Amino acid sequence: MSRKKFIAGNWKMNTTLTEAVELAKGVVETVGKQADVDVAVCPPYTNLSAVYDVIKDSNVKLGAQDVHWEAKGAYTGKVSCAMLKSAGVTYVIIGHSEQRQYFAETDETVNKKTKAVLAAGLMPIICVGETLDERKNGKMNTVIETQVKGAFAGLSVEDALKCTIAYEPVWAIGTGETATPQQANEAHIFIRNVLVGIFNKQTAEEIRIQYGGSMKPDNAKSLLQQSDVDGGLIGGASLKAADFKGIVLPQ
Ligand code: 13P
Repeated sequence: MSRKKFIAGNWKMNTTLTEAVELAKGVVETVGKQADVDVAVCPPYTNLSAVYDVIKDSNVKLGAQDVHWEAKGAYTGKVSCAMLKSAGVTYVIIGHSEQRQYFAETDETVNKKTKAVLAAGLMPIICVGETLDERKNGKMNTVIETQVKGAFAGLSVEDALKCTIAYEPVWAIGTGETATPQQANEAHIFIRNVLVGIFNKQTAEEIRIQYGGSMKPDNAKSLLQQSDVDGGLIGGASLKAADFKGIVLPQ
């Protein structure tokens, strides 16, 4: 089974409108014609429409960094799936560790968001990953299994196939410390086995699993060469078009 690689840039809370448009132009110029790798950028909400205008005639797709599961109403500060769709969004990041850590995201809210995103015809990128403490205390597999099972609870095979998982060990995010290719691959194989248990082998083989956590041009190739690493969710290095290109097309 060969899974097409998928590299997405998570711009997090960076880029003003002008900066976002500039960065998006750089991404289109450098990797906008890529057909053999799926590429997406996930700017802050306020820049979605403007970035969509820049990328819409290229192969680069638009992603959002979060969503609320309710369709509309009195939820001050929140954004719905329909709003994201109308801004040109294809992918939605769900359950990022920063959401889990700072904004009370739980496996239950991840599941609600995943279902809402799929019902709207959008594609979830579901983030899972252990903290350093959890890894040191031997809880890594339990934590990841609980997160994956929580996210996928009640999903059909058809819907599961529209999801991407991002394995992001919390200790590797923004720290400059990367999981070794072997550590990443072991975690990805573990996640795929959890998916076999929830669905079946064929479904598990088709779902893409990205690695995220200090992925850079100089370590991208060795990570992406691993059997079960199907792409990357890139933070810091996605904020410079040249670095992002170095991950999409690693030398
Ligand atoms: P860094 O690439 O900055 O470590 O961030 C990874 C990440 O959190 C992507 O979602």
